[in-house]
Amino acid sequence: MDRQTTPWVGFGAGKVILLGEHSVVYGHPALAGPLSYGVTARGVASKRCQLALPGTLSRTQKALLNNAFRRAARLCGEPGVKVTMESELPLSMGLGSSAALSVAYSRVLLKAAGRKDVPREVARLALEMEQEFHGTPSGVDHTTSAEQQLILYKRLPNQSAGRVRVVKSSRPLKVLVVLVGERSPTKKTVGALRERQARWSARYGRLFEEIGAVATEGAKAVEAGDLEALGDAMNVNQGLLSALGLSSPPLEDMVYRLRGLGALGAKLTGAGGDGGAVIGLFLEPEPAVAKLLELGVRCFSSQLAGPRAL
Ligand code: MEV
Repeated sequence: MDRQTTPWVGFGAGKVILLGEHSVVYGHPALAGPLSYGVTARGVASKRCQLALPGTLSRTQKALLNNAFRRAARLCGEPGVKVTMESELPLSMGLGSSAALSVAYSRVLLKAAGRKDVPREVARLALEMEQEFHGTPSGVDHTTSAEQQLILYKRLPNQSAGRVRVVKSSRPLKVLVVLVGERSPTKKTVGALRERQARWSARYGRLFEEIGAVATEGAKAVEAGDLEALGDAMNVNQGLLSALGLSSPPLEDMVYRLRGLGALGAKLTGAGGDGGAVIGLFLEPEPAVAKLLELGVRCFSSQLAGPRAL
């Protein structure tokens, strides 16, 4: 066989959840889309199947990445490849950095094994890695990254896999993403919510049900090109997340700030808690991005779906 001379390249997009984080863990639908930023992995032919990791990582981080990589590599028959990566995503801010990494590595592993990196196969391998990082995620993060499209995702009972419906938008969906402070790990926020819902299951169950309904309505609004209705669904979702105890003063402040800057809707995205990411849906986010950057706020814009301007 010819030795591979050009590197195998794999991209994993970061994600934002427009509607339905947390309730997705309990089997309700969530609407999520890929960011234009993510993680790029590159693989070159090698005697062994191995990762080359940056020296800046701690021993614990390296061990975690290596274990996750080995799990996916085993499913691929351990192809001879040495893999590096570069990330454009902030870590642990609710933007799916671990899922993006898992997808990028999985694409390279599949290519090195001479297999097609179709979304279903990529998601199967990426899930192995996500389980090492997060235990039992709902699967929405790595599925969105692998599909690289706006999707309505519904978890199957007791699995980290789900039903996927691609949601087509005739209009561009543009979000402004703001990074607000530090936050606790997703596992901790999800675990604390699980304790509350176990104690007051009827009350929390009603809120999850309502978030699921709002996510389904949001998907319909996208398909109808009704961005005002999508924005309203996001605002209502934020209220429900707050009722579930998942918001905090810094997140709420930013939500109101984005609405003041003209967002059609704004909410936290991802696990929430003490900090994390806030998103605003804008027809044109750039003026708001410029204003916030001038004030030293960490933010960027991204298109999630629809036709892209050339
Ligand atoms: C994290 O991006 C999304 C959560 O719903 C957790 C999960 O779906 O596994 C908070």
